[in-house]
Amino acid sequence: MQTTKEKIVAAYEELAERYNALIDHKPHNAYYDRPNTLGLLPEVKGKNILDAACGPGKYAEILLSEGAAVTGFDISPKMIALAKTRNNGNGNFFVHDLSEPFEMFADEQFDIIVCALALAYIQDWTATIQEFCRVLKPKGILVISTDHPFFDFTFFRSTHYFAIENVRCVWKGFGIPVEINTYRRPLSEYLLPLTDNGFYIDKLIEPKPTKEFEKLDPRHFKELNEFPSFMCIRAVKRD
Ligand SMILES: C[S@@+](CC[C@H](N)C(=O)[O-])C[C@H]1O[C@@H](n2cnc3c(N)ncnc32)[C@H](O)[C@@H]1O
Repeated sequence: MQTTKEKIVAAYEELAERYNALIDHKPHNAYYDRPNTLGLLPEVKGKNILDAACGPGKYAEILLSEGAAVTGFDISPKMIALAKTRNNGNGNFFVHDLSEPFEMFADEQFDIIVCALALAYIQDWTATIQEFCRVLKPKGILVISTDHPFFDFTFFRSTHYFAIENVRCVWKGFGIPVEINTYRRPLSEYLLPLTDNGFYIDKLIEPKPTKEFEKLDPRHFKELNEFPSFMCIRAVKRD
């Protein structure tokens, strides 16, 4: 029987090509997640940035175009191949698991870490956040986006708010139905792994979609203006 992690990897291996083909303009990514998450970053020119769980390298493409040096990793080999192709040999991309130690990185190597829409695949964030803290410079910035806890609580019809639960749903927005496994958690399990492991929370936003979203998908534009499905956090490494 496949473990949850094996199911997650298999789902992204199956989705990778379609994800890459749609990512530039898929409303939830291009006009909801990315503008809000990128909006939490400081000036990136000349900065050393880790794109953790980089997928097909769209964030990396934007950050490279703004003059950052970007290292990206992802658990899906197909995503990494696509990230390399998309970025034409710029940036440094390789396969790695967010929940394993970042042995390839030195202490205080990065100015900024971006981890977009990926931490929901990790059951216990502690080791990952500790590694984020270790590889960031003092006062380094970690920006994450992830599922909103209240959206997940209602969407998955949970009856035990305080549990961390393996939940699954079928994504249909990429042309083929693919079952996606994630971990639903309470709000405190987003914040405490950060504040208990070397970070303070500098800003937390419940994002709104941009106007471009409305043109492509008015129904979800209305819904997302009434109830968020993502949450974005900027955390700063304490001195
Ligand atoms: C929704 S995609 C987001 C990709 C990219 N960050 C973006 O926003 O365009 C989630 C990514 O997380 C990756 N992922 C899932 N579990 C992971 C893990 N344990 N370690 C590293 N990457 C993981 C998937 O392979 C996939 O590429």
